[in-house]
Amino acid sequence: LNGSYVPAEQAVVSVDDRGFLFADGIYEVIRVYRGRPFRLEEHLRRLADGVAALRIPFRDPAGLAGIADRLLEENGLRDGDAVLYIQVTRGAAPRAHAFPPADVPPTVFVSARPFTPYPAEHYERGVRAVTVPDTRWSRCDIKSVSLLPNVLANQRAKEAGAFEALFVRDGIVIEGSHSNLFGVFGGTLVTYPACNYILAGITRACVLELAAELGIPAREGPIPFETLWEADELFLSGTTTEDRKSTRLN
Ligand code: PDD
Repeated sequence: LNGSYVPAEQAVVSVDDRGFLFADGIYEVIRVYRGRPFRLEEHLRRLADGVAALRIPFRDPAGLAGIADRLLEENGLRDGDAVLYIQVTRGAAPRAHAFPPADVPPTVFVSARPFTPYPAEHYERGVRAVTVPDTRWSRCDIKSVSLLPNVLANQRAKEAGAFEALFVRDGIVIEGSHSNLFGVFGGTLVTYPACNYILAGITRACVLELAAELGIPAREGPIPFETLWEADELFLSGTTTEDRKSTRLN
């Protein structure tokens, strides 16, 4: 936390932190396989884009790689299956909506924890999803910690006995509360275009890359709500929402 390596219970932020007061910050979640962060560069690039979009004066996203490395080491996860969490907020200052003075440093928090895979049943039998109206703002491409619509949507899913809630905007199924959605229609993969209405996942990009490599037809386009039932297959992609085979590697 802010340059110190401390046990989680001692990692304490101020009640004046703008992350706490305004959800004024961004985050990243990165999967670690056998001690190696997956697509770290892409995650750090997205984080750099996020701080730039929010105009948070955090100048060293690249330095987070070294911090992540040390955290994996200190937590005994050098060979393990883990998740890195990074959060950068606009720092702590008395509550006022506009930015604090330029000398207020951002709050930078990074953690490494063991990854707990989902039950095998999720992969063998599939998971359920509910659909919810997309009430989010129109900059979903920014990985903001302001996740209340996602929290409420996922809670709705949980209460319905489902794994994920799919956001529907203007009749189009866009993405999940914490994952991207793919459909297979007549042998073609379809996923919502990368734009301001979704968080274009690093895993999503990886799936599209693999499809291209394997010669599987894929296109970015809308999945209308009423066509969901015509899909040969629907699947979710995300940093913690992944193919179990990859966790088995470990
Ligand atoms: N969420 N869409 C949303 C709304 C997300 O929150 C996420 C990831 C994704 C998938 O992105 P990626 O493949 O880059 O992880 C799509 C993280 C994991 C979370 O909030 O915990």
